[in-house]
Amino acid sequence: MYSACGTARSQTISNAATTWAAVPGSEVQAVLSGRATGDAPRQPGTRITSTAPRLVTSLHVTSKGAHYFEERPGAAARPGTVDVVLPDLHLRLATDSGVFSPGRLDPGTRVLLESVPPPPQEGDLLDLGCGYGPIALTMASRAPGATVWAVDVNRRSIELCERNARAAGLDKVRSVHVDDVPPEVRFSAIWSNPAIRIGKPALHAMLARWLDRLAPGGTAYLVVQKHLGSDSLQRWLGGQGWATTREASRSAYRVLRVAAREPGAARDTADDVSAGGAANNEER
Ligand SMILES: C[S@@+](CC[C@H](N)C(=O)[O-])C[C@H]1O[C@@H](n2cnc3c(N)ncnc32)[C@H](O)[C@@H]1O
Repeated sequence: MYSACGTARSQTISNAATTWAAVPGSEVQAVLSGRATGDAPRQPGTRITSTAPRLVTSLHVTSKGAHYFEERPGAAARPGTVDVVLPDLHLRLATDSGVFSPGRLDPGTRVLLESVPPPPQEGDLLDLGCGYGPIALTMASRAPGATVWAVDVNRRSIELCERNARAAGLDKVRSVHVDDVPPEVRFSAIWSNPAIRIGKPALHAMLARWLDRLAPGGTAYLVVQKHLGSDSLQRWLGGQGWATTREASRSAYRVLRVAAREPGAARDTADDVSAGGAANNEER
């Protein structure tokens, strides 16, 4: 699928986060390992046969009612790992409580990573809302010459992403708080599984903030569940001057392709363009 960078990566497993040789023909969707599932940690080259992760945790509310987008999650540490198995790469990533989807690769994130075209091979790229890093590290693996900015508000996520990038040898990943990206940086691509749960006004503000930092000709890809308002978000984006089309549609997820806004593009003044249930009562 990703012919430009589709070679399997082969590195030595070091610890929690790593890449190793792809298993041709593996049907695995996402494999849990370590404490999260009770599985023994997998070794490099292990044939992965399970297609049924036993622990399904893609919750927006973490233990004790906290949200995954809190700046400093109070949940007690509960380290685990998630194996991200894609057609072109495998990553073993460290996770923890208090971050988004710590038990498995989120299905929406998978749809995004299996749908997007290869990223630009140089310049600055952005993973908006990096969590423990599956999108940022995939971008960096597919574009080794580019600098990948992995931003989040959740400090635990930022630390995990940083640790995972280092362990995988992806030293061009910059895991930082959203307020710590130098203002002059412009992105030739943005990939995101955006934090719908923060609510529509905050979601719109977050997207506007970062989409306006797309370089001319740059493109963003956003994955959103259909029943969480992907169509209304598409309309809102279009109404704000970001030409938006549907790149892919799979398993109730939509991948939206958003083009950089042209200077002087017409914008709706109303923020709410029949946004339906988007970002209000959605479930992941
Ligand atoms: C749906 S999760 C996706 C996480 C990760 N990219 C993945 O695919 O597993 C959205 C992420 O956005 C982060 N987030 C919430 N508000 C944000 C904001 N204002 N700016 C950037 N990231 C934010 C959350 O903390 C969370 O990690």
